[in-house]
Amino acid sequence: MRGGNEYRLFYSQFRQHFHTTGAIAPSSLALARAITAPLAVAHSGTLRVLEVGAGTGAFTRAILRHLGCGDHLDLFELNPAFKSCLERRPAEARAPERGISVCVHVSDVRAMPSGDRYDFIVSGLPLNNFAPAEVEGFLHLFISHLRPGGTLSYFEYLYLRDLKRHLVQDAGERRRLDQVKIVVDRFLSRHHAIATPVPLNLPPALVRHVRVD
Ligand SMILES: C[S@@+](CC[C@H](N)C(=O)[O-])C[C@H]1O[C@@H](n2cnc3c(N)ncnc32)[C@H](O)[C@@H]1O
Repeated sequence: MRGGNEYRLFYSQFRQHFHTTGAIAPSSLALARAITAPLAVAHSGTLRVLEVGAGTGAFTRAILRHLGCGDHLDLFELNPAFKSCLERRPAEARAPERGISVCVHVSDVRAMPSGDRYDFIVSGLPLNNFAPAEVEGFLHLFISHLRPGGTLSYFEYLYLRDLKRHLVQDAGERRRLDQVKIVVDRFLSRHHAIATPVPLNLPPALVRHVRVD
């Protein structure tokens, strides 16, 4: 599935599962390139990569381009409607011929085995849609699954949280958005993080690369 069909599938899932899908369209090529940039840096040995909230695989394509023989990619996607789309990505990238192993898990990432460790985690989760305690839980989960020296890369939509905060009438929803911001800011203050704006996305986004020592 390419192009229009992929967009139609994504949009239909956005309408049915707004809370967990969190976007009207798959991420752009510019965002996929920016979020996978740490994978382009030279590294020694084989890599283990985790992608969370893979959707139709916009980031998966970019991740697979950077991987080589002996590397492994685990994908977690909650929504089974995206399964067949994701299962096509390894063949499209000729991953088996290139010696890359890929495992597609149609599951909530919070159900993953506790002992697995990764060099890179790429997350597409819509953190601004979740309760503050859930956001804290996801960030803690990611850090606990990174090897020392590993990198977590995730994105948020630019200005969206502030815009929503000003538009919503519901005081409880405003409080939730404020508390999510506090949780994320506290997390970022504890780690070395770099932010890269990506204007070429709908809506424009900000990628964060967080390095864990
Ligand atoms: C904003 S979309 C991003 C999709 C894709 N990475 C992209 O950038 O086009 C978020 C995705 O996260 C998935 N998701 C939400 N909660 C999840 C969870 N707890 N575990 C795994 N996937 C989840 C949704 O089903 C959705 O496909």
